[in-house]
Amino acid sequence: MDISSADYNNFRHILESQSGILLGDNKQYLVASRLSNFIKENQIPSLSALLAEIVRPSGKQLLQKVIDQMTTNETLWFRDNYPFEYMKRQLIPELKRKGRFRVWCAACSSGQEPYSIAMLLAESGNSMAAEIVATDLSSRILDRAKKGIYQDIELKRGLPEHKLRNHFQASDKSSWQLSASLRNSVKFSSLNLLKTPYSNGRFDIIFCRNVLIYFSQENKTKVLNGLIDSLKPGGYLFLGASESITRDCKPLDLVRCNPGLAYQKPA
Ligand SMILES: C[S@@+](CC[C@H](N)C(=O)[O-])C[C@H]1O[C@@H](n2cnc3c(N)ncnc32)[C@H](O)[C@@H]1O
Repeated sequence: MDISSADYNNFRHILESQSGILLGDNKQYLVASRLSNFIKENQIPSLSALLAEIVRPSGKQLLQKVIDQMTTNETLWFRDNYPFEYMKRQLIPELKRKGRFRVWCAACSSGQEPYSIAMLLAESGNSMAAEIVATDLSSRILDRAKKGIYQDIELKRGLPEHKLRNHFQASDKSSWQLSASLRNSVKFSSLNLLKTPYSNGRFDIIFCRNVLIYFSQENKTKVLNGLIDSLKPGGYLFLGASESITRDCKPLDLVRCNPGLAYQKPA
């Protein structure tokens, strides 16, 4: 699919304003690879025609599907390890003393991150100690997350063999489904991080990992400040291993997890 510079610039403006996802210069190949089949399947004559449609009030559903195509859903079990180790060692014992606590995975993709937390809680005998809320912009990926069915290849990415045996049942020859009790312990819903303020209430722990890398500095700050507002005083924020807060963020204290870092909202 050939993309003119006018169409490309128009598309990246729409994508960023609706989702925060920022496309650099000369990423036409990425748009072509993510949207060519989509355009054919939906019998849309061209990218220009698609662009004209998604800006109409009647094109909202189509716009959501286009954004879905442009999200990068790369994820794995117990990603980076240290946030889960730190939760197990420090945060679960600390927070459960005060009562039931709340965890939010913002940008949860296909569910590996919130389900890793659910496993951690179940295995330490703390299933009832926390409420886990998981959100993402993409309804396609949320449908997958809710089903909790994963291919062999996805399960090989970070999930120890004994956890596979303990928490999954074979679904067919090459896929496995997570136990109903763990699936039911995570509440999934759709939420666009760009559309702050959020209405999920306040949280003791927020994971927002490997999504802000796709955003401009300005949108990063906006989202981070929205997340900070959603933390309870004393609450913890985990970002991706290559992410950090921006200069214009509301104040947070740095927490050394040894290894790795987290942030804490001043009490
Ligand atoms: C690379 S995945 C990260 C998944 C998980 N947090 C992890 O670190 O493994 C990024 C996710 O962010 C979601 N996303 C992108 N823009 C978003 C937005 N504006 N609001 C909410 N989620 C968004 C995508 O749909 C995708 O599932």
